[in-house]
This record gives sequence, structure tokens and C-alpha cells, in this order.
Amino acid sequence: MKGIILAGGSGTRLHPMTQATSKQLLPVYDKPMVYYPLSVLMLAGIRDIMVISTPADLPQFRRLLGDGARLGVRFTYAEQPRPEGLAQAFHIARGWLAGEACALALGDNMIFGDHLSAQLQEAAAREDGASVFAYHVADPERYGVVTMDAQGRAVDIVEKPAVPASNWAVIGLYFYDRHVTEMAAAVQPSPRGELEITDLNRMYMEQGKLHVQKLGRGCAWLDAGTPDSLMQAGTFVQTIQSRQGMLVGCPEEVAFRMGWIDAVALRGHALALGKTELGRVLMQLAEGRHL
Ligand code: G1P
Repeated sequence: MKGIILAGGSGTRLHPMTQATSKQLLPVYDKPMVYYPLSVLMLAGIRDIMVISTPADLPQFRRLLGDGARLGVRFTYAEQPRPEGLAQAFHIARGWLAGEACALALGDNMIFGDHLSAQLQEAAAREDGASVFAYHVADPERYGVVTMDAQGRAVDIVEKPAVPASNWAVIGLYFYDRHVTEMAAAVQPSPRGELEITDLNRMYMEQGKLHVQKLGRGCAWLDAGTPDSLMQAGTFVQTIQSRQGMLVGCPEEVAFRMGWIDAVALRGHALALGKTELGRVLMQLAEGRHL
């Protein structure tokens, strides 16, 4: 399975912070925002990853992430000339995907929780249909909202409904089977002129092939699209990391735990991070002095 990180958009709700740089490169505590969805894709076992961003911002992502060899993964970069909806990612990635299954992670979504990697790997392993995750929120009208029957099967999915039928928001991490490119090609622009990911998910639902996995209260889902949510996300990461001495959203750590890089390489990354706390924890990990 391949993966896409969609890191486009103009981030208008974060102006002026995003006037000179991409939203997904802003810091969330001690790391660039894109590290968090990247770590999630890697935890799912995905090593072939396309980063999609605006023509102006793409060079910065390239500078930050390189070709991926240092993490034992492979990055490919592609431009989204105009933001025309999340499902556009599959039009852009069509040739590169070449009919493979693919996960899509939104560059401003962060998930963190116990047992998450098992859930991610299960979704990645599913060969038929699409898998999405639902999270109970107080303000579902801001998101794609899914309604489920008593057996947990999706019966309705609506993008930003004025009157939500449930509190279950669909988070910005989607796993699709190998039919995704043809399915995405059939999505028509919505009234707001976008190729909605919710419409793609609805197509899978109508075929009885949309798996919805609820994320429980032990799991945190944060988006960082406004000054408040950006601040909350940063505080969350700071709280967990300083309390537990463990890292959240660190691709070097994930690469090591997945066995894609060895302790020598991890040590090199730790040294390159100098005197940062991040460098200190990675060094402990490389030396086997960490959980
Ligand atoms: C997008 C999707 C929405 C999803 C959300 C998650 O909305 O359209 O279905 O719930 O991401 O962050 P956006 O944030 O782009 O408005």
C-alpha cells in the first residue's frame, strides 16, 4: 500500500502565519506539523509516500524531508496547482499509484493513542473497500459526519452538515483499496466546487464497502487549522512528551521501531538534532535505554 500526505491549501484561517509558509510546516510544539501525519502513515507500515502541496510550498517540504532514505522510506513530490478538494489527490497521484491501494493523510491532522498502530495496520491490510476512523466530537458540523447502525455499519455520511445526525466526525486519515483511482475519477464537484473526500467515501458506502472504526476516549484526534487548535495540539504534545519522556509524532523513532533503520542510523539522527530534547530521547532509544 502507498500513502499520500496532502499538505496543500492556503491556510487562510491561520493568516498571517501562513502568508509566507505552508500551514503544514508550522511548528506543533517541537516538530513541523507534517511530521505527525507522516508518523501515522509510517506506523501503518507505509513506506512509499507522495507529498502533495502547492507549487510555492513544495520546495520547502522537499528540503525538510528529502528522498526519505534516512528514514528507510521513499518520498515522491507532486504539485497541486489549485486546491480543488481532497479527492483531487487521487487525480494528481494517478500515474504514481498505478492501480495500487492507497492511504490518504491530511497534513494538518494528528492522532495519538494506545493500540493505534494495530488499528492502522489492520486498516492497511484490508484488501477490499475503504476504511475510515470516526471520532466523537462536540462540534461535528465542522467535519464529515458519519451515522452508523446498531452493528456499526455506516448508513450515512455527510460533509459539514448544518444539522449533524451524529457526533461522529470522520478524521483526515483514509485507507482505500486498489479501485480508488477509478472511484475518485467519478467524483463530481460539490456545490462549493470541490471534489469532496466525503463523496468518495459515500460511493464506497453505497457499495457496502466502507468500514468505519470508532476511536475511543483513549485516543486524541486534533486538527491544527486555527490558532486555537494549533495551540491546543502543541500543548497536547508538550504535555505528553514532558510527562512521559516519550515522543509523539517522531518519524525517526517510528522508522527505528519499525526496523527500517538501525541503531547506528538513529544515533546519527540524534546527534544531528544536537542538544534538543528530541535528540536526547532519540539517543536514549539508540542506546537501548528507553522503553
Ligand atoms: C476535511 C474533510 C472532512 C474531514 C476533515 C478532517 O475537511 O472534508 O470530511 O472531517 O477534513 O479534518 P476540511 O478540514 O478540509 O474542511
